[in-house]
Amino acid sequence: MSIKAELLPRHVAIIMDGNGRWAKQHRIVVALGHRKGVEALRSVVRYASDIGIQVLSIFAFSTENWNRPQREVSALMALILEFFASEIDELHGNDVQIRILGEKSALPDAQRQAVTAAEERTKNNKGLQLNIALNYGARDELLRAARALAREVQSGTLKPEEITASHFEAYLDTAGQPDVDLLIRTSGEMRLSNFLLYQNAYAELCFPSVLWPDFDQRHFQEALQAFAARDRRFGGRNT
Ligand code: IPE
Ligand code: IPE
Ligand code: MG
Repeated sequence: MSIKAELLPRHVAIIMDGNGRWAKQHRIVVALGHRKGVEALRSVVRYASDIGIQVLSIFAFSTENWNRPQREVSALMALILEFFASEIDELHGNDVQIRILGEKSALPDAQRQAVTAAEERTKNNKGLQLNIALNYGARDELLRAARALAREVQSGTLKPEEITASHFEAYLDTAGQPDVDLLIRTSGEMRLSNFLLYQNAYAELCFPSVLWPDFDQRHFQEALQAFAARDRRFGGRNT
């Protein structure tokens, strides 16, 4: 399959959903479903990097996911550490730039240090920009941006009427990156679950029924093909 470069999305966002149901189907503990999900993630990142996607945002852990059973949260946190330890060399070698979306300060120390080190190490890379949303919620992101802007106004360096879209966007976790073009959520669920609410304003949405651990290159290609066939109007008319 080859899709013309100009028909590829610049920014793809993925809500990796269905690890729990996959584990249930296979009669194994949920932690093993998440582990299998990490394998799917590896191949998707490699593929996105190979075909020249500019930005890939993946939802790994939401601000609401802290409400899951303690044992599952611990398993997810352990997997995060493992992922960074095992993948960082290859990602760096492939020129991938890693950025964390979400509030890092609420992560456990080891995880916070690992993700910060990965961001620091890859910050000058010029290939795929890989956004990993960890302790991320769009409402939290928007509130943090609002607070930062309010502080600027309070200190007198900014007038309220100077808060333009580009000024506002500079305070988002995705500052400097294009809006999401294509949002994929696996497992058939059709909701955003607090992911990139601002950046998804004009995203094309794709809801394949496959559970995340089974998502592979073929499913990714299908989503990209569906995207290439969409008629994007942004409120205007394509005549
Ligand atoms: C998504 O899979 C992974 C995370 C939220 C970390 P789920 O664990 O939500 O899978 P389901 O929805 O229970 O099947
Ligand atoms: C969204 O999935 C979060 C991640 C994939 C990390 P959830 O499974 O947590 O979302 P809901 O609860 O079904 O909306
Ligand atoms: Mg889920």
